[in-house]
Amino acid sequence: MTATLALRPIETAPAIIHPAPGKEFDWLLAHVQSNLFLPHPPPESIFVGDGDYRAIGAEFLGHYVRIGRLQPHERVLDIGCGIGRMAVPLTQYLDPERGSYDGVDPVMDGILWCAQTITPVYPRFRFQRLDIAHPLYNPKGSLPGTEVQFGFPNHSFDFITMVSVATHLPPDELTVYLNEASRLLAPGGRLFLTAFAIGGQTTGQERLKFKRWQDGPGWYAIEEAPLAAAGIADEFLLAETQKAGLQVESLRPGHWRGISAAHYQDLLIATKPERSR
Ligand SMILES: C[S@@+](CC[C@H](N)C(=O)[O-])C[C@H]1O[C@@H](n2cnc3c(N)ncnc32)[C@H](O)[C@@H]1O
Repeated sequence: MTATLALRPIETAPAIIHPAPGKEFDWLLAHVQSNLFLPHPPPESIFVGDGDYRAIGAEFLGHYVRIGRLQPHERVLDIGCGIGRMAVPLTQYLDPERGSYDGVDPVMDGILWCAQTITPVYPRFRFQRLDIAHPLYNPKGSLPGTEVQFGFPNHSFDFITMVSVATHLPPDELTVYLNEASRLLAPGGRLFLTAFAIGGQTTGQERLKFKRWQDGPGWYAIEEAPLAAAGIADEFLLAETQKAGLQVESLRPGHWRGISAAHYQDLLIATKPERSR
């Protein structure tokens, strides 16, 4: 990867012209953030990180549409959907008859809250608990992350999101997820994945100080719990994405680097080529 990655977004595929969402969409985002009728889990049950649940959900709906070009009629897969922080705002955007949303996660409580709160009102929003092992989120899980195969047919989705999930995976599991994303995306579909992509220049202002895990592509910020905040070598991330059969469209640096950016983690957008099997 070029040394400029840390400071400037890379764009490796020509940007697709897409009408910019207008004032109506701005209004929708404001509504998603302020509408107290939208469900919100009990604060003590939120296990997906600090920060304002509604505000982060609205923020990502904005990124999905403005950066990921998500359309209301599309089929979304949310890998590591947690406790519905992305699903709740998407109920206000996806077309209830044509769009759909599937969320998967190893944490039972999050899936139960979503299945009991969201699915009865929005039946095209479905949630599945998978017993994937993770030292922090599901230590007794029976399925190793390297053996994950999501139970959906090839090309089932137009948009796959992994927000703040790759930042908890070791490199070999990330590779498996990139391959699964490629298998599951229909031609023209996009993967929207956030990461701490390590490489290139540093700013000296990073909010997390990463250390390399042995000699591999994995990095960690917290010694006692390496998967609490996992970094990944940018070259590895880009190469594995491409090897999986996805075309990297952009990798945008996030403001965890101490720079000005619209999102905290780095953001990878990769596309399933139109002419792919
Ligand atoms: C920081 S939370 C983010 C949740 C959600 N994406 C959001 O932004 O609200 C990380 C999520 O990844 C899930 N997770 C952990 N290991 C996973 C794995 N191997 N496969 C899928 N999800 C996993 C966790 O259970 C947790 O819900």
